[in-house]
Amino acid sequence: MSAATPVWDPVQYLRHAGHRTRPFTDLLARVPEPPGRRPRIADLGCGAGNVTALLAERWPAAHITGYDNSPEMLDRARAEHEGVGLGFAEADARTWTPDEPHGLIVSNATLQWVPGHADRFAGWIAGLAPGGTFAFQVPGNFDAPSHVLMRELAGSARWRDRLSGVLRHQEAVLPPETYLEHLTALGCTTDAWETTYVHLLQGEDPVLDWVKGTGLRPVLTALADDPEARDAFVTEYRAALRSAYPAGPHGTPFPFRRVFAVAVKEA
Ligand SMILES: C[S@@+](CC[C@H](N)C(=O)[O-])C[C@H]1O[C@@H](n2cnc3c(N)ncnc32)[C@H](O)[C@@H]1O
Repeated sequence: MSAATPVWDPVQYLRHAGHRTRPFTDLLARVPEPPGRRPRIADLGCGAGNVTALLAERWPAAHITGYDNSPEMLDRARAEHEGVGLGFAEADARTWTPDEPHGLIVSNATLQWVPGHADRFAGWIAGLAPGGTFAFQVPGNFDAPSHVLMRELAGSARWRDRLSGVLRHQEAVLPPETYLEHLTALGCTTDAWETTYVHLLQGEDPVLDWVKGTGLRPVLTALADDPEARDAFVTEYRAALRSAYPAGPHGTPFPFRRVFAVAVKEA
C-alpha cells in the first residue's frame, strides 16, 4: 500500500465542496486569459469534476479535459459534468504530458498526492502554448493537528505494523518560495503565495468528516478489508480530534493552510 493509491469516495469528498472550492476560485482569480480562440485546458486530478466545470463556465469556448487516476472520481465527473467542450479521461499525473500545446494546465488539491511533482513541471511548462499558464493549489497543512494526530496514531504500537508508510508527511508539498524558484527557473513569470483559511464547520465531528474525504483515505483504504480495525482507528482518532478542534458557539473553526502558484510562460 502506498500513500498515492487511496480509493476515493466522491460523495464523502463533496460533502464539504463549498469550503473546498474557495481556494480554487481564489486561484482562478489570478489566472490570465489563455491564449487562442479555443484554447486547450487540462485539469490534472480533476476529482469529481466540480471545479473543472468552473473552468468551462469561465471559458465556454475552450476545449477542456479533466484528468484523474481514480475510476470512482471519473465516473462521478462524467455523470455530472461531461458536455460540449468538457470531457474527462484517465491519466496519471506522475506520467502525463500534454499531447498538444495547452493554454492552461491547472491542478487543484492534487499534487500533494504526486511525490516529486516539481520534477514534472518542466514537461508541463514545455507543453504550454506561448503565453499559457500553469496554475496549482496544494494543501500545506501536514503539520496541522488533523494530520499530526493521524500520523501519531498510525505510528503507535497498536497500528504501526499495518499502517507504516501509508501516510504522507510535510515534504509532500514545498513552500511557496521553492515553487516560485522552480517555475521562475523554467522561464515563467510566477506568482506564489500561501493563505490560511479558517473554515467554520458545522455538525458533529466535522473535522473527522472532512478528512474522511481526503487525508484519511490512505488509512481507510489500508484497513478496508477489516471494518472492525477501521472503526477502531476512526474511534481513537475522533477522540483526539475532538480535543484538538473543540466546537465553538458558531461551529468548529478549522484552520487550513494552502499554497498557490501561477506561472505564465513567455508569450
Ligand atoms: C483532493 S482531490 C481534488 C479533486 C479536484 N481537483 C477538486 O479540487 O475538487 C485529489 C484528486 O487527485 C487525484 N489524484 C491523486 N493522485 C493522482 C495522480 N497520480 N494522477 C491523477 N490524479 C490523481 C485523486 O484521484 C483525486 O480525485
